[in-house]
This record gives sequence, structure tokens and C-alpha cells, in this order.
Amino acid sequence: MQKIIDIISQEVREAFEANGYDGKYGKVTLSNRPDLCEYQCNGALAAAKEYRCAPFMISDKIAESLQGNHMFVSVESVKPGFLNLTLSPHYLAGYLQEMDRDRERLGCEKSENPRTVMIDYGGPNVAKPLHVGHLRSAIIGESIKRLGKFMGHHMIGDVHLGDWGLQMGLIISELKERKPDLVYFDAHYQGAYPVEPPFTIGELEEIYPSASAKSKEDAAFKEDAMQATYELQHGRAGYQALLGHILNVSVNDLKRNYKNLNVSFELWKGESDAQPYIPAMVQKMKDDGFAYLSDGALVVDVKEDTDTKEVPPCMILKSDGASLYNTTDLATIVWRMEDYHPDAIIYVVDKRQELYFTQVFRCARRTGLVGPETELKFLGFGTMNGKDGKPFKTREGGVMRLEYLVSGINEEMYKKITDNHTVDEAEARETAKTVALSAIKYGDLSNQASKDYIFDIDRFTSFEGNTGPYILYTIVRIKSILKKYQAEKTLPEGAGILPARSDSEKALMLEISKFNGVMESAYEEMAPHKVCAYIYDLANAFNHFYHETKIMAEPDPMQQAGYIKLLGLTKKALEICIDILGFEAPERM
Ligand code: ARG
Repeated sequence: MQKIIDIISQEVREAFEANGYDGKYGKVTLSNRPDLCEYQCNGALAAAKEYRCAPFMISDKIAESLQGNHMFVSVESVKPGFLNLTLSPHYLAGYLQEMDRDRERLGCEKSENPRTVMIDYGGPNVAKPLHVGHLRSAIIGESIKRLGKFMGHHMIGDVHLGDWGLQMGLIISELKERKPDLVYFDAHYQGAYPVEPPFTIGELEEIYPSASAKSKEDAAFKEDAMQATYELQHGRAGYQALLGHILNVSVNDLKRNYKNLNVSFELWKGESDAQPYIPAMVQKMKDDGFAYLSDGALVVDVKEDTDTKEVPPCMILKSDGASLYNTTDLATIVWRMEDYHPDAIIYVVDKRQELYFTQVFRCARRTGLVGPETELKFLGFGTMNGKDGKPFKTREGGVMRLEYLVSGINEEMYKKITDNHTVDEAEARETAKTVALSAIKYGDLSNQASKDYIFDIDRFTSFEGNTGPYILYTIVRIKSILKKYQAEKTLPEGAGILPARSDSEKALMLEISKFNGVMESAYEEMAPHKVCAYIYDLANAFNHFYHETKIMAEPDPMQQAGYIKLLGLTKKALEICIDILGFEAPERM
């Protein structure tokens, strides 16, 4: 369906043309004075310059032409030359009626040019517990992926595990000290390795931090870990078998955690998957003359004439020949291009890595890993801070584990739900989980991703204000009215959306009519916060309407059925949006 604002613009454009003016001046925007009108056109002010006359002479003529137009109840020309537009309730009802016919998408068309988009998000590190820093990447990435899917694009999410480098050697060395008799450490062992892992996830998560701490004090231990890393990366069978166990145990645990967040990935690739692509990639960069030695390290220049601050060369190999985070990201681009030919690769990563990604992207383009037809996009997000304005920590000041954060909020929500009324224990637990997830995700997504924000549990879990629970509460309210109606009656033949009879009803209808436009621009700008802002406005408009309107007591069956239809539309729009944001509504709360 065409966006309502485009249809209105088209109508106004034609009025400009009919009066001999360039149609481009007919562009319409949402009113910034909703107390005066719903839409406005300021084109007469600009046109006056071209046609050398007073702006209101133009706006007067346009208003005159649009009198009696089926789309508007009023078109006013206001000095110095504004056009204030108010939609006809009949026209608006017709537009909503058409939205309602497209049950699943409410008139939001899929993109005419679907793109293949790979989205790199999550980015957890194997054997290290997920912490809140990973939360934002998971929440934002998942939402952008869902938004893209809804708009008809082929979205491929890749978790890009941090499963390469010294952390693996540290775990191996530590394990060797603790359990030296394990067969993995016997260099002469020829047989098959055990299927059962030699540790649980609990042990694994304890092994890494203690190994990491030890390596900072004990040089010999660090040396051993570096040696183990080298041997692992050069094919030592026992270590590779251990790596397999570390990956399995860790990935199972990660999947469980992500499932609790309603986050999933199409690909579970990691840094290690890129390693086989490194030698040929590096060779080609050398052969093509891009990579050169600088102080022993192999680098590619990536600075550009227009740079206002220094962009250092992209380091490809260290002087000892070891590869880096860079090298892995570049080689990852190689397999992504070979296997998926994406039109775009989007990285949802902490914004502190922005300069790093600038280097990687420039290097990938210069060396021809990526052609001009493929977009590389860095979507950097800000820090999640505590109420003190500093990065979110545990009460003891340590790094907060994601699992504890989530279970803490579940508990908080459970208390709220069971506080004032008695509910079935199992249902309350389930509902608490659902509502808590909305609190966390909405609390994050309602901020522009690139900004830092304060993780305020009290505010996020509130049932009032701009929060996830408020949105869910609104949906649950609609569900309960619809249930009540259905229990008593069935929709009469020919029921449909009727022209608004009150201001609050019209305001609700205007909000609903913006649906496809919001979805489109939220995706174009990769901005889930626009979806949040929209459903907040929509929920407010609904609640206002609900408080002013007697729905169940409406005597006219057709009018009542019209309300019910309107409620159904509101509910569907809210549900599509929260699904895109990555949470859902319970039946009751
Ligand atoms: N594992 C990294 C971290 O914890 C994030 C990975 C981001 N993605 C990428 N392709 N580099 O910081």
C-alpha cells in the first residue's frame, strides 16, 4: 500500500501543478502543530521565491483548489503561507479498512529490491561468560535482523564467536596443570579422543579467568600458554580435540542463554573458521602490492586524503608472522563474499571499535576483497551504564554476568506481578519472564543505538511510561476486550472500520495509518528506536481512546463492531512491532 503521507503529497502536488507551479513544492509533512492540523505543506514559502510573489498568494490558491477534496475536511491557508491540512474521517477510515484487508502486514509492502544482508552481532567469546556488554549487540542486532526480514530482505545473522587466540592456549595450559594425565596432553597418543568433554561449563568458566589472572603474574605460565596457542594453531591433534570440547560446551551454553533472550543466529561461525583463508589472502595482498613490511610487521595503508584525523595502517601480520583480530575479520569477509555474495555486511559492535572497523573496511575495499556493489556498515552502539553513569557493574563492582542480570529482573517482575493479586505460580513465573524480557529489550532499543544509556531497572520494569511493560499492558488490555466481545457476540455481516466520531478515535486512526512509513524508515535508518517511539505513541493514542469511549456499552452493533475492528488493527500493529523488537505479549498480566 502506498504510504498515506505520499498519497497526501501527491494530491497537494497536483494542486500546485494545476495552478501552474512546480509540483515539487507540494511536499507534505506531519504537522508540528498537532493542535492546529494533522499534516502541513510549507511549499508555498519556497515557491514564492521562484515565482516572485507573496507566499500566501500561492497558499491561498492551493487551499482554494483543495476545497471539497475527498481527502480533507479542511485545508487552510495561513499567513505567511502555510497550508494546514486535516484529513477527512471518511478517507482515513477507508485507508485503515484497506490496511485491515492485508491482515498479516497491514499494507506494508516488502522491498522491491530484496538484498542479501549479513549481520554480524552477538560476538561472544568462547569460554568467557556473556556479560552485559554483549547484551546490546544481541538485542540490537536481532531487532535489525527481524526488521530487515519483515521488509523482505534475506537476512543472515552470524554470531562471530571469539574462538581464536591466546584465550584458548590459556585454557589448555591451565587444564594441563590441573589434570596433566588427560590423554590430550600426551604428544605420542595415537588413538581416538574421548567423546565426553573433560570439564563442565561451570568449570570452563572458572578455568579461563583464573588462567588469565595467572598469566599476568607468572611469565612462565604465559609462555606455556603462548606455546600451546601456537601448537593448537599449527595442528597439534590433542589440542584440537580439546578445542572441539571447549567449543561444544561453550556453544551449548551460549545457545541456552540466547534462547532466553529470544535471540537466534543463522550461522554459528567463529574467528577460527576464517583461519584457512588467511594464507592466500595475505599472499594476494602482497602480490598486488598493497601489503608491505613496516618495522617487521606486514601492513596495508588505509589513510585517505580527506581524513581529518589520523587513520593508522591496517596491520595484517605481526613481526613474528602471527595473525591479529584484523586479519581474522578480513579473512571472514573473504568467506562471507565467497559463500553468500552479500549486498551488505553490517557489524553491530561497541562503538569503541569504530576506528578499527574503518581500517578493516578500507583495507577490504582497497585490496579488492569487497567490490563497490557491497556495502560495509558499522553500527556502533554506546555503553550501558548504571545509575551512577558508569559502565554497569555488579554491586561488588565486578563485571555483571548476563545470566544474573536477566534472572534478577525476572525476580523483580515476579514480585510485581504477584504483589497485588494471587495468580497461579507457574503462570506468574512464565509471565514474569515474558514481561521482564520486554523491560530489558525495550529499555535498550528505545534509545538511539549509538548513544550511551542508563540501565534503570526500576524505570524499565514500570507499567507506566515509555517502557516495554506498558506496551505489553496495552496489548493485554486489547486482548481482554476482544475476548469479552467474542464471548458475547460475533462480528455482524459487513462490519468494518468506520469514520472517527471523536478526536481521540481519530488520533488513534492517524497513528495506525503511519505503520508502513515507520517500518520503512526504521529499516532504512537501521533504527529500532523509531519502532519503539511509534508503538509508544500508538499505545498512548489507544489508551486515550479507550478511556474516552464506551466500547462494550456501545448500543449500535455496527458502531461497536467498528471499534472492535479498530482494536484488532491496533493490536496487530503493536504485535508486529514487538515481534520485530524481539519480545512478545502474554495473554494476561
Ligand atoms: N568478540 C568481540 C568482542 O567481544 C566482538 C566481535 C565483533 N565482531 C567482529 N566481526 N569483530 O569484543
